[in-house]
Amino acid sequence: MRYTAIGDRRVSALCLGAMKFGSETDDATSAALLDRFVEAGGTFVDTADCYQFWVEGFEGHESETFLGRWRRERGITDEVVIATKLGAQPTVPGTGLETKEGLSAATVAMAAERSRERLGVDRLDVLYAHQEDRATPLPETLGAFAKLVAEGHAEYVGLSNHRTWKLERARAVTEANGWPRPRVLQYRYSYLQPRFDRPLQAGGHMHVTPELLDFVRSEAAEGRPSTLVAYTPLLWGAYTRPEKAAALDPVYDHPGTPARLAVLDEVVRETGATRNQVVLAWLLDSDPAVVPLVGVSSLEQLDEAIEATDLELTRDQWTRLAEAG
Ligand SMILES: NC(=O)c1ccc[n+]([C@@H]2O[C@H](COP(=O)([O-])OP(=O)(O)OC[C@H]3O[C@@H](n4cnc5c(N)ncnc54)[C@H](OP(=O)(O)O)[C@@H]3O)[C@@H](O)[C@H]2O)c1
Repeated sequence: MRYTAIGDRRVSALCLGAMKFGSETDDATSAALLDRFVEAGGTFVDTADCYQFWVEGFEGHESETFLGRWRRERGITDEVVIATKLGAQPTVPGTGLETKEGLSAATVAMAAERSRERLGVDRLDVLYAHQEDRATPLPETLGAFAKLVAEGHAEYVGLSNHRTWKLERARAVTEANGWPRPRVLQYRYSYLQPRFDRPLQAGGHMHVTPELLDFVRSEAAEGRPSTLVAYTPLLWGAYTRPEKAAALDPVYDHPGTPARLAVLDEVVRETGATRNQVVLAWLLDSDPAVVPLVGVSSLEQLDEAIEATDLELTRDQWTRLAEAG
């Protein structure tokens, strides 16, 4: 396992997504995946207070509730960092993001309290704003997060799916008020790049852009490092499974995709690793470094991801991959 940091906390450079745990992935499999991850040195787990409201039969708190149970049963305390998110739970059962709770000060306080209860913790390790809320002024949201940190109810603040200009505005607002700045950033990102002139099909997803990478790099150079976390790094298995590739969002349907896959396969041949592993290693070795946030439904998939943390690409391989397409 490789390691990175969120502020003063050391975390594994691979994050395990618990989105389906306790819902689509049954309890026994979910627990086995978490146990294996921890056994392999994994210390960074991702959830949200709304997973998986969009799947029939579930309400949106199943992942947090499951993780709380797993923590208690295993006696997990500080050794595993559990990041959660608020703001995207629908207010009307049966509806979608159009009725999401949003990021008002009252919602932030109420949702954080709910998450602490479900996870069984006094202090949330990382608390993200899940998606932008254009109806709430950013200072109101960031002030509410700052209050949680001051009260000891959250350790680190994160932003997920926020445009880069919002990140810069968040930096300015938190600096001016002496509030904790968002240190963890979470976006969709993988080796294949989408067309940026088309919306992503998946509701609420926002993709890493070259501008965002430049922002994170520049901020780090000025002494304000953050941890960049990439969800959906394996594109739901599309790198290796024809049925998943066929169902891929049309934003990947452009000449850059076959060009990138050709170089990916070159590096697969050179390293003896799998496509998925080369993709994960490419993200891990990026500048800024990227923490892949993988979702898995079997131990074999998890092991493939864990083994990718042992793969180090040469500078030449990384650059050829980056410049393809
Ligand atoms: N911040 C946000 O807005 C946001 C959005 C989405 C996700 N997330 C987080 O990111 C995590 C991962 O996202 P994701 O599940 O959408 O993306 P993903 O990791 O790209 O895809 C997960 C799926 O890919 C397949 N897969 C995984 N490893 C594989 C392997 N080695 N070989 C072949 N197929 C493999 C599995 O499909 P099968 O189960 O069908 O086998 C698995 O369920 C989530 O758990 C969640 O924590 C955050």
